[in-house]
Amino acid sequence: MKTTTDHHANSKGEESPLKSFLVVNGPNLDLLGRRQPEIYGTGSLPELESGLIAFGRDLGLEITTFQSNHEGELIEVIHTAEVDGLVLNPGAFTHTSHAIADAVRASGIPTVEVHLSNIHEREPWRAVSVVAPACVRSIYGRGVAGYRAAIRHHLNRTTSPGEEVRYGPHRDNIGDLRRGERDLVVLLHGGVWKHQFERDTIESLAVDLHQRGHSSWNVEYRRIGAGGGWPGSAHDVLAALDFIPQLELPDGKVTVIGHSAGGYLGMWAAPRSKTSVDLIVGLAPIIDLELCVFDAGELEPESRLLLEAGAPPRVTPGGIPAFLIHPIEDAVVPFQHSSDLASETGVMLKEYNGGHFDLLDPSKPHWELVLERLSP
Ligand code: DQA
Repeated sequence: MKTTTDHHANSKGEESPLKSFLVVNGPNLDLLGRRQPEIYGTGSLPELESGLIAFGRDLGLEITTFQSNHEGELIEVIHTAEVDGLVLNPGAFTHTSHAIADAVRASGIPTVEVHLSNIHEREPWRAVSVVAPACVRSIYGRGVAGYRAAIRHHLNRTTSPGEEVRYGPHRDNIGDLRRGERDLVVLLHGGVWKHQFERDTIESLAVDLHQRGHSSWNVEYRRIGAGGGWPGSAHDVLAALDFIPQLELPDGKVTVIGHSAGGYLGMWAAPRSKTSVDLIVGLAPIIDLELCVFDAGELEPESRLLLEAGAPPRVTPGGIPAFLIHPIEDAVVPFQHSSDLASETGVMLKEYNGGHFDLLDPSKPHWELVLERLSP
């Protein structure tokens, strides 16, 4: 058994005890880098582990790692772990090991399941995880970034857990509500409407808003590959906005913040909602589906699907005050989406010097500009 521990102090110099998380990898993951690199990537396991330890250190966390090819060893390390959370990739045991699922339940340690590959778009037997029901969240199909997302999710849910509130019958008609004294902000995540990208991607903004006293509702919606696309994803967002009065929050303004594809959904739904929305904030929003298809970049296949299903080629805030922030050199959603909308409608646009995903990080400078626009 080999474990690697990092005992570095909290880099932010905070005095609170370090939160510690254990990253457990199961069979064949020791071969990362050599094993089917077209599926699992070219990085090795030591690279993955040292990267996560450094990532944790920057967040003021202690990360420990463990890998084994043996089911019993994995179970024993889960039994004996004394950590605040587990990040668990059980490899092929995912699909068979009720014993590992039971170990997670027995440990009582909040566990995020991670898979490098998109287990829902491979052989049918991989789509079944017997471990998932024992876990607080499952992240798949995001490569190595999925492990970092799992650590962030652990941090967010320990900082500010929130309550899950359903707004409709589908599994994904749900949102994390964090109640505060100040006005409500609804968060809509991006991810080109693909099902492997979920609301944990925008959760750090939801938690930051809550810590500043706002109510935040981080809304999930059906996505392509899991009942979404057009019109499912957009109708879900509309249903969530219509549901706001039932959240029973104090009277106040409503702001909708959408990142990337979530920006498109917010701009479509907010003007149509029975709930009056006071401000739409687009963080590198997708505005123009035809532009995505024309660009022939990574947004093309899903944008084409939406257009073919009857989605409007372009969205606008429809008279609702809007504020856009867009990286000038955005490599995912070109700046032109926001600049065209700004010149056509006069909505305010701030240029940002950074990357598309920086906008999901409340420690980046753009966030102050958003906060300034929220009512006191
Ligand atoms: C895996 C997916 C499993 O189906 C497979 O058996 C693995 C790796 C992943 O990370 O994508 O070993 O968990």
